[in-house]
Amino acid sequence: MAGPQQAALAVLVLACVAAAAHAAKLPSYLTPRCSRSLPTPALSACCEKLANQGVSSLAYGDKKLRIPSMRPLIVPHMSLSQGTQQIGLNLTWEPAEIWGLEDSRLYNMTMDWQNKKAVFDVVIPRFTLAGHYKSSGRVLLLPVNGEGPSNMTVYNLRVHYSYDWPIKKNPDGKEYVTITNSAISISGADGMKLDFQGMFNGDPLLGNQMNAFLNENWRELIREMGPGMAEATGQVTLLVMQGLTSHVPVSEMFDP
Ligand SMILES: *[C@@H]1O[C@H](CO)[C@@H](O)[C@H](O)[C@H]1NC(C)=O
Ligand SMILES: *[C@@H]1O[C@H](CO)[C@@H](O)[C@H](O)[C@H]1NC(C)=O
Ligand SMILES: *[C@@H]1O[C@H](CO)[C@@H](O)[C@H](O)[C@H]1NC(C)=O
Repeated sequence: MAGPQQAALAVLVLACVAAAAHAAKLPSYLTPRCSRSLPTPALSACCEKLANQGVSSLAYGDKKLRIPSMRPLIVPHMSLSQGTQQIGLNLTWEPAEIWGLEDSRLYNMTMDWQNKKAVFDVVIPRFTLAGHYKSSGRVLLLPVNGEGPSNMTVYNLRVHYSYDWPIKKNPDGKEYVTITNSAISISGADGMKLDFQGMFNGDPLLGNQMNAFLNENWRELIREMGPGMAEATGQVTLLVMQGLTSHVPVSEMFDP
């Protein structure tokens, strides 16, 4: 699987974040609030602490904030296409399960009130993409049509996020944070384990060889699948953040 290949991933966003009918309170697992008057380093440290404290609660889902449960997160349709005609692969999961988000830890947060910019790193100790897959395409000249259960687990997946968060006034007269210009990239990982059953229409010999090949070449695979995986985790994170920011007004989110 060598060569510069394009990865593209389409994730159907599962829940559209509707405008809030009533402003919601900041969930108790995200308190005590940080003061917006703190200098940037102190505000950043406060927000990082709160986010780490709230991650696992958020991962259980929050109906009031329209955040789905993430244990696992069910993505109804996920597809990954990459490569050329000679070396190319289409993978589709219907649905895909994403496990492990509840153990995410945030680091290196910068929360800049003046410029309304946020930057942080996330480490997911064990990120699993699992579910029934279908594949079509060619790898090393071999057709790889197949389908079956799959499990792709990445250890210490490191992700870098940045976004702007301008404040807008909603029809209810209250101010809300909006999230724009979000960018996310995979910055590293310590290992990956793959298991795709039923490759090559179930041929066990070829299937085992391909799984062994993919496991040996995990670094390259992460490099190629990185943009797609970043997009998937990015959309999920965005969904959570928008659930929060579109329902909880700024005045409720921060102390003066
Ligand atoms: C935090 O930032 C430092 C300095 O840029 C970097 O070396 C480190 O890998 C970052 N931490 C994570 C978890 O990405
Ligand atoms: C992947 O799927 C797309 C659209 O469904 C198709 O155009 C393309 O030829 C497929 N590629 C391979 C390698 O099967
Ligand atoms: C995926 O594989 C990992 C590592 O082999 C395993 O610990 C985990 O339980 C599996 N998860 C699912 C959902 O199959």
